[in-house]
Amino acid sequence: MAIGETAEVSEAQIAVHWREEEYIQPSRRFTGQANASDPAIRERFAEENFPECFREYADLLSWDRYWHTTLDTSNPPFWRWFVGGRLNASYNCVDRHLETRPNQAALIWVPEPEAEATQAITYRELYRRVNAFASLLRDYCGLRTGDRVTFHLPMVPELPVAMLAAARLGIVHSQVFGGFSGNACGERIADSQSRVLVTMDGYYRSGELVDHKVKADEAVARAAELGQKVDRVLVFRRHPGEYASKTPMVEGRDVFVDDVIEEHQRAVVAPVSLPAEAPLFLMYTSGTTGRPKGAQHSIGGYLAYVTGTSKYYQDIHPGDTYWCMADIGWITGHSYIVYGPLSLGTTSVMYEGVPTYPDAGRPWRIAERLGVNIFHTAPTSIRMLRKVGPDEPAKYDYHFKHMTTVGEPIEPDVWRWYHEVVGKGEAAIVDTWWQTETGGFLGSTIPGLEPMKPGSCGPGALGIYPIVYDEEGNEVPRGSGKAGNICIRNPWPGIMQTVWGQPERFVQTYYQKYCRNPQSKDWHDWPYFAGDGAVQAADGYFRILGRVDDVINVAGHRLGTKELESASITVAEVAEAAAVPVIDELRGKAVEMYISLKPGFSAGADVEEKVVHAIESEIGKIARPKNVWIVPDMPKTRSGKIMRRVIAGISNFADVGDITTLANPEVVEQIKHHVQSEKVARGQVPRELSAQEMSELQAFGKAD
Ligand code: PRX
Repeated sequence: MAIGETAEVSEAQIAVHWREEEYIQPSRRFTGQANASDPAIRERFAEENFPECFREYADLLSWDRYWHTTLDTSNPPFWRWFVGGRLNASYNCVDRHLETRPNQAALIWVPEPEAEATQAITYRELYRRVNAFASLLRDYCGLRTGDRVTFHLPMVPELPVAMLAAARLGIVHSQVFGGFSGNACGERIADSQSRVLVTMDGYYRSGELVDHKVKADEAVARAAELGQKVDRVLVFRRHPGEYASKTPMVEGRDVFVDDVIEEHQRAVVAPVSLPAEAPLFLMYTSGTTGRPKGAQHSIGGYLAYVTGTSKYYQDIHPGDTYWCMADIGWITGHSYIVYGPLSLGTTSVMYEGVPTYPDAGRPWRIAERLGVNIFHTAPTSIRMLRKVGPDEPAKYDYHFKHMTTVGEPIEPDVWRWYHEVVGKGEAAIVDTWWQTETGGFLGSTIPGLEPMKPGSCGPGALGIYPIVYDEEGNEVPRGSGKAGNICIRNPWPGIMQTVWGQPERFVQTYYQKYCRNPQSKDWHDWPYFAGDGAVQAADGYFRILGRVDDVINVAGHRLGTKELESASITVAEVAEAAAVPVIDELRGKAVEMYISLKPGFSAGADVEEKVVHAIESEIGKIARPKNVWIVPDMPKTRSGKIMRRVIAGISNFADVGDITTLANPEVVEQIKHHVQSEKVARGQVPRELSAQEMSELQAFGKAD
């Protein structure tokens, strides 16, 4: 079926025609040791036991004071979990393990240069480092409970140390992904009103020591433009005593951490006992409109949720060596490198660099050397590792009991390679579907109890009751072969509390669409709108099709079309810009920009370059478009709206669908001719799209 051919179904109900995959059972060896091995667990988390079922997760934590109300729904959709309880996240991830396992590695950090020594940081050592940095934040920077602090750190152990130090004092951390540009960081500093920025001089990527501090200067300047002054920049040094950046340190503002930490080295900072409802961190993410939004996560609900799901879905035991190859700058790293695994007292591995550096055997050498037995990554890395080193895993003597795929839909044949070659047929796989906003997993199989099905995430996670709605709010029944908008009917402890500083945007983005009665205090009237298209098979398993809003998921990173377009129109020649996804063999999707020029300007490679440069400097290199197309005009509706789906069809050599409602249908042929002949010349003609890819493209921008 082609884009636009939705004859018998409404827009939300894209018919999905693909073959059902066969189930694959986890091995007995895995199920025999699994944390979730009692089938009654599903009943414990059944709807009749909601919300008290989540006590089971909260009871995994150490509380200073037990809560009196598990869920308070008096001000929907601002749910409050474990009300009355007090705890500290840093205590739960560090201090409470000191008695039982002081000398077990909490973190093992693998630097990118293979000759550089791996660092094992024991729980005792982590405790020391966290206390010292907390003392620095409090006594040197003057930060207090409730203040925000921005980190712009790469994948180094200083990052989890800084997070746990902030958490110790109830300072709300906002870690900005290290690959984001200085400008993007500055916007997030301003939005969160941080006056302290913590950064690093440089880090290794693909064999190069990248200058990172240069971005701090850009960030501080952008924040100042937006009205937020940064008065202190703490700079870690990748090699203490040396400086990896070309930018000068700014007198009075910038300071090397290794110069000032000495007198804090032996400090003991008592963990502050905080209400479960206090914020733990902000994580900025892209949406349909406007600037990125700061998803605010709580201490009690969030920590309970990531601890519980790490136990049952990641199957983490304290004795495991667990490696999640994500970046801590994204929610996956917060929940499933730092907070969940450390709360359970396991050993969490962090890797600084690129998985294929210096060659495609690197991840498997790391796994072999460290004895990693749980491995967690995204489809984009799996595709890359399969492409460049399909036979590498077999050469190394490692054994994973469990593996995760997360962040984008995974093609069944990629899934099978992951299972057979990376997992050596031994590992149980979970395909976990969730979002920045949701704190932890929403959809997944329970690895020891439910069979895997390639390409499907599985049923709703424990205590999560998903539903698929059509545009009108009617349920799309399971097994109907039709897709719709996946929603979660109930609140859960990991859900974000609000959009930082914009509560109305929180309500509008996630709840307005399907709220049955805005006056109601009953959670049943407030389904959470996830913004993803999905189809539910007869067995209850969900297959996620991707975003229905204007978000493009590139290599598992969320990019808002609006942000890409705003960056493009900062170029003086550009009148209008539209961003669309193209199916990409490795990254899942890549971005293509369509640009129209202001009168008097003519198309040329220089304009294309300026657009690329603007995007890299406003957002970061991850957002670099695959192509920039300069077109005479954008296809538009009569009301002047750009029809992104039409150009997405062109970019993907798919049918553009019905264009009779356009104000300027003639432009479509022109654009198509220009773009497609150029793509042929560049050798970019895609193979025929699979049914899944078609559905993903159809889902894009459907909420327009
Ligand atoms: O479209 C879904 C996709 O990633 C989006 C969330 O992105 P982000 O907030 O960056 O969080 C990524 C880490 C959880 C979702 O709306 N997505 C996430 N996991 C899956 C997925 N799509 C398909 N399958 C998944 N397992």
